[in-house]
Amino acid sequence: MTAIGKPVSRIDGPLKVRGAATYAFEQQVTNPAHLFPLLSTIAAGRIAQIDAEQALAAPGVLAVITHENALKLNATGDPQLDVLQTDEVGWYGQFIGAVLADTPENARYAAGLVQVHYEPRTHDAEMRADRQDVVKPYHAALFGEMPGELQNGMPADSSFGDVDAALEAAAIRIDHTYSTPINHHNPLEPHAAVVEWADDEHVTVYMGSQGVSMNQQIIAALFGLEPPNVRVVSPHTGGGFGSKIRPHSYATLAVMASKISGRSVKFALTRQQMFSVIGYRTPTSSRIQLGATADGKLTAIAHDVVEGSSNAYMYAEQIGVCTRLMYAAPNRRTTHRLVMLDMPVPTIMRAPGESQGMFALESAIDEMAEACGMDPVEFRILNEPGLHPESGLPFSSRKLKECLVEGARRFDWANRSRRREGAWLYGSGVASATYPAPRFPGNAARITKVDGRYCVQIAAVDIGTGTWTALSQIAADALGVDMSLVDLEIGDSALPVGSTAGFSSGLNSWGTAVMEAAKLFKDGKETGTQVLGGNPKAEQYEMNTFGAHFVEVRVNSETGEVRVPRMLGVFDAGKVINPKTARSQLVGGMTQGLSQALHEATVVDSRYGQFVNRDFAGYHIAANADVGSVEAYWVDSSDEHTNEMGSKGIGEIGIVGVTAAIANAVYHATGVRVRDLPITLDKIL
Ligand code: MOS
Repeated sequence: MTAIGKPVSRIDGPLKVRGAATYAFEQQVTNPAHLFPLLSTIAAGRIAQIDAEQALAAPGVLAVITHENALKLNATGDPQLDVLQTDEVGWYGQFIGAVLADTPENARYAAGLVQVHYEPRTHDAEMRADRQDVVKPYHAALFGEMPGELQNGMPADSSFGDVDAALEAAAIRIDHTYSTPINHHNPLEPHAAVVEWADDEHVTVYMGSQGVSMNQQIIAALFGLEPPNVRVVSPHTGGGFGSKIRPHSYATLAVMASKISGRSVKFALTRQQMFSVIGYRTPTSSRIQLGATADGKLTAIAHDVVEGSSNAYMYAEQIGVCTRLMYAAPNRRTTHRLVMLDMPVPTIMRAPGESQGMFALESAIDEMAEACGMDPVEFRILNEPGLHPESGLPFSSRKLKECLVEGARRFDWANRSRRREGAWLYGSGVASATYPAPRFPGNAARITKVDGRYCVQIAAVDIGTGTWTALSQIAADALGVDMSLVDLEIGDSALPVGSTAGFSSGLNSWGTAVMEAAKLFKDGKETGTQVLGGNPKAEQYEMNTFGAHFVEVRVNSETGEVRVPRMLGVFDAGKVINPKTARSQLVGGMTQGLSQALHEATVVDSRYGQFVNRDFAGYHIAANADVGSVEAYWVDSSDEHTNEMGSKGIGEIGIVGVTAAIANAVYHATGVRVRDLPITLDKIL
């Protein structure tokens, strides 16, 4: 392998720097009309009447689309996709109609003229962990392939041994509850769809997407079309973080409006509209109980989760699943319960589940290490399991101990200081990280040779992560040719099928298909039609990435302000395909973790079921000045079982555990334990 492992600069970089990389809204279609949506202003009830007369008379208006004149769709049962199919309102800010006009300005102006009359019913938007009416999740499939109690296909509960008895008997116990708020994805590129029908049966949808093949399937099913007749195109996507996995209601609304009007349609959400129609990170409460022997061996671990979901559609995130694999202990339990609310439907957001669950677990481990009088790095290493503590399977690779040791060495953990400089209190913290390393089924790659060059096609996508580059490197090595001879084509559902860019599965899944296609190609066989399943070894091995975060914070003793001058992460992500783009991913994840720890929270006004802050003025994201030194390293590692490249995945592991490392450092600096994110100054003073 000569291309894999090289820090190749992004091959799409020059296009992006020149502004020549075409994002969804920039796609050119013939004579487009523009859509502006109507959002509900009640949280629950029904629409009694919509008066569109004034809007229809406004300049440039082509149509006002509501549930009364909407196209009938093949309902999926998920109101995020089944747009305008009933008069029911399931949450504040749901699409209840749209105005189509000749210009964006005319559409927006006329939307303000539509009068909507509601019959509200009492709504419930109060996320409290102590509620008695919680529900055990029973069906929360996000991907059609992964039906289960939790959205990743896992069971809601797990139980081994007798946790309560072990806690009772433990020499040292802790019992604390940790909570995390709603977060919103906020990719740089707002969600947009540009739609053009060729005839009644054929439509092209340009959209910023994390998965063109899956969106093709969903749109085709909704509109009763043959999947090959729906073309979803997404050559460049300006970030997604999980919010562009599905087409949501914006893409289906645009497809519908184009069909009804017979015009091409352009539709971009405003930043404010995004908050209620593209999902969000679900709020959670995690009660963690730990029991240990006097010499620091864990004997019992319980992680009981209460999380928010929506009455409109059951979504259940895997918050406590991380606790099933991190530490050895004979007695263990995890549970997930949902508070069903009249709120928008949550969805996956970077490291869904692990990001919230590891804040809880890794904070609790820090508390337990202190209760045992042990260094938190040593405590973690002492409680490393050999095999997966619940399934009993071996890990395909697990170099967490190496990450902790290497991180401690680089950070100079042994000499970490807790000190005061003027008003500033300094301290340091550590936390571990993990994330699954799945390979998704449903991938095929086609390879053809034209004029001495190799064309490699697969319906993968690049959501800003570096897929264009890293997949080209894999293709070059698979073919045994120089990378300059490879022309990769991705981002189009007309290409051989590709799985979705989610769950850090991209290169594992697409790369394996490219490797397999290259073998067929070299044997002179047909490529592009053999659709691969998942990883056959997934039955024999637990496959996960790991990491260790070390951070230094300083906290102002007078104002409570928290600054993070230094973050250092060491990761076990298997073979790193491209050190340059991988480092960007890890540094980006760590930065998003810093933002999650200190800044990000969407506040609900439960009286209205409405998000209070829904733009960058109110939803704070770490800015450049909030970020100090961020160092990302990885241990030498190549996984024998995940795929032929030896890689495990890198998109999410960087964010996991950062919040806990920062909270642990704040405690070290100040003696104040903040168990509720974000760590704002009011919680410290
Ligand atoms: Mo990721 S949250 O699986 O896009």
